[in-house]
Amino acid sequence: MIKKRGRIVRMDTASTTMIIDAERAEYIYYGERLHSATERMDGVSSGRKIFSTPGKDAYLEYGAVFENADGGFAADFVYTHGKILPEKPIVQGLPSAYGEGKTLELKYTDAGTKVCLYLYYTVYEDSDVIVVSSKLVNGSKKEIRVRRLMSLQMDLPGDGYTVTTLEGAWARERHCVRREINGGIFVNDSKRGMSSHARNPFVMLQSANGTIGCNLIYSGNHKETFETDGNGITRVLVGMNDFMFDWKLLPGESLQAPEAVICYAPDEDELSLRMHAFVSEHIVRGKWKKRERPILINNWEGTYFQFDEEKLLSIAKAAREVGIELFVLDDGWFGHRDDDTSSLGDWYDNAKKTGGGLAQLAEKIRGLGMSFGIWVEPEMISEDSDLYRAHPNYAMKIPGRAPVRMRNQLMLNMADEKVQNYVVRAISDVIARSGAEYVKWDFNRSMTDCYGKGIVAGEYFHRYMLGYYRVVAKLVKKFPNVLFEGCAGGGGRYDLGNLCYFPQYWTSDDTDARERIAIQQGTSYAYPQSTMGAHVSACPNHQTGNTNPLSARYNIAACGVLGYELDLTALSEADRQAIAEQVSFYKENRKLLQYGDYYRLHGKETEGFMVVSKDKNRAIAVVNRMRNPICAPYADIRFKGLRAAAIYEIKERGGKAWCAGGDFLMNADLPLREWYDFKTAAENSGSVMSRMFLLEKRS
Ligand code: DGJ
Repeated sequence: MIKKRGRIVRMDTASTTMIIDAERAEYIYYGERLHSATERMDGVSSGRKIFSTPGKDAYLEYGAVFENADGGFAADFVYTHGKILPEKPIVQGLPSAYGEGKTLELKYTDAGTKVCLYLYYTVYEDSDVIVVSSKLVNGSKKEIRVRRLMSLQMDLPGDGYTVTTLEGAWARERHCVRREINGGIFVNDSKRGMSSHARNPFVMLQSANGTIGCNLIYSGNHKETFETDGNGITRVLVGMNDFMFDWKLLPGESLQAPEAVICYAPDEDELSLRMHAFVSEHIVRGKWKKRERPILINNWEGTYFQFDEEKLLSIAKAAREVGIELFVLDDGWFGHRDDDTSSLGDWYDNAKKTGGGLAQLAEKIRGLGMSFGIWVEPEMISEDSDLYRAHPNYAMKIPGRAPVRMRNQLMLNMADEKVQNYVVRAISDVIARSGAEYVKWDFNRSMTDCYGKGIVAGEYFHRYMLGYYRVVAKLVKKFPNVLFEGCAGGGGRYDLGNLCYFPQYWTSDDTDARERIAIQQGTSYAYPQSTMGAHVSACPNHQTGNTNPLSARYNIAACGVLGYELDLTALSEADRQAIAEQVSFYKENRKLLQYGDYYRLHGKETEGFMVVSKDKNRAIAVVNRMRNPICAPYADIRFKGLRAAAIYEIKERGGKAWCAGGDFLMNADLPLREWYDFKTAAENSGSVMSRMFLLEKRS
C-alpha cells in the first residue's frame, strides 16, 4: 500500500514499511512494519538521500551523473511532484516485474537545464518487496551525455554492515562471500556484457537491525556500490554499470534504468523466502509459472559432440524406461558441428547426426512417450559458418582489429535490428520444424570487441541488451507453450532479467554433487529452486574427477529442477533401477521439491537443504556430510521451517520411522552418526555422503 500525505510517503508491505520525505528526497525509515501513524513525520531529517547528483550532494558516489551542454556535471534537482499512479508505467524495452499496478512517481527538475529525474516505487505487498527505478528526461534544448544512471540509491543509517555477494567463476558460480564494510568503498560488478559467473547482481546487507537484499532486473553489466561517509551513512547504489557508459540523450529523449528490487527481512532465511515468493509470483510468467517442471535427460555429458541418431534414441529409450519425461538434444546437431570450432549461426539440421533431421528425430522421441527439447546458442557466430561467409558484418568486431575469440567463436551484433530479426527468424524456424516443447538458450562467452556501425561506443553494452531482450521477448511470445531454460556456459547469466523470459536456468556446468552444494546454496539466496536446473551426471565427475555415490548425486539434484545428464545405457542394471526409483520419488514429491519453502541447513560437519510445504505438514531435508575421515567427528543438523508445537514423523528414505516435536527438530542439534559404511568406504573416500529425510506432521 502506498499513502502520500503532503511530502511524506509511506509504503507498506505485509511485514515492512518504507517512509520517504519526497520534498527533501530523503529516506526516513525502512525496516520492520510500523503500526503507528507516520503522516506528521516531516520534522525528521535523516540526511539519507534517495538520489544524488554532483554539485549538490556530499562527496559520495552519485546516483545520477550527466554532462550538461554547458560542459559541467552539476545538477540541482528540486522536487516537482509526487503522484500515485494507478498503473505501473511500462519499462520500455526492458524486462520488469509484473502483477502490481499502483506506483509512486517522484519528479525532480534541474532548473538550470530543465533535465528531469523521475523515481518510481512499486510495492509488492505479498512478497515484501519494493521495486525501484529511475528515468532521466532531457527537457533542455541541447544534447546531454549520461555517464551514470543508477536504478536505486539507498542511504542506510550507520556503518559496519556485513555485505554478502554471490561470486565465483565458470563452473564455480554464486559462492556466498561475506565482507564487513567498515569504511571505504566496496564494489560488486560485472563488465563482461553479462551479469556473469563472477559476480551476480544480488547483494545482501546485514546489521543488528535486520537484513536487506537488493537485486537488479537486468542481464548485462551491473554495479553495486557500498560506501561509508564517516558521518554515519552507508550509501548503496544498484544499477547498470557506468563502465564505458556514455549515453547521448537528445532534447526530449529519456533514458530508463532497469528495475531494482529491495526487500527487508529480519534474517537471511526469511529474506530468501521473500525473494523466492517475489520471483515466483512477479518475475516468472507464462504457462510455466508455478507449474511442475518435467524431469529431463540431456545428452551433453553423455555424448558431447559425438552422437548419431541410434545413440540418441538408445539414451532416450533408457530414459523413458526409468520414467524421464523430456529428452533434450544439446550442442552439435546443426551445420557440420563436431567440435566447438564451427557452425554457430547455421541452425539447419545435420542429417547424419540426427537421422534425417530434427522433425523426424523429435517424432521418434515422442513415439517413445517423451517430449522433445533442443539446444541453441542464438547470439553467437562461428567464423567457419555459412552465416559468417554470407554476412561477416553480423559479427561483433571492431573494423581493422583482430577480434578476441572465446571458445573459438564471435558474438553477433545484437544491437543491430537486422541481426535481431535474423535471430528471431532462425530460432523460430528451429522451434517450428522440431515442434520443440523445451528450448535451452545458451551463451558461451563474455563480450569483447563491442562495436556497431553508427552506435555511440559508450552506448553499446546497453544497446546490446535492449536488442537481446527484444529478441527473447518476441520468441517467448510467439511460442507460449515452450519451456525455455536459460544457460550461459552454466549459470553465467542467471539473473532476474533472464527469469522474466526463461522460467528456469542451468545453474552451473559443474555437475559434481559436492561442488553443487555451495553453488545451489549460494543461488538460493536470491532465486527459488524452481528456477535451478540440477542434473545427476556420471561418476567420476567430468569436471572434477570426484566420485560421489548415485544417492548423493540424486539427493542434491532433487533440491532443484531434476534432470539426468549422462549415458544411461552405460549404467548397470542396479543403477538404472535406482534411478527409476529416484524419478518416481521425485514425481510423487515434485510440487514440494520445486515449490516448497526452501531453507539452507548448516550443521556440525554437514551442509544441506530443506523444503517445507506451505501448510508445514510435509518436509524433505537433504543433509550432506562433506568429508568422511576415519574416526570422523560426530555430525549433526537442525531442521528449519517446521511448526514448533507439531509432532512429526521422520523417516529416512529406506529407513525406520520415528517421531519428534517440531521445536525439538529445530533446536536440538540432531546427532547423525550412521554415515560410515565400511563396504563402500574405499570407493567413496573423499566423496560427499548424503541422506534424505521425509518429515510428515502427525499431530
Ligand atoms: C555450455 C552449457 O552450460 C552446457 O550445458 C552445454 O550446453 C555446452 N555449453 C554445449 O556447448
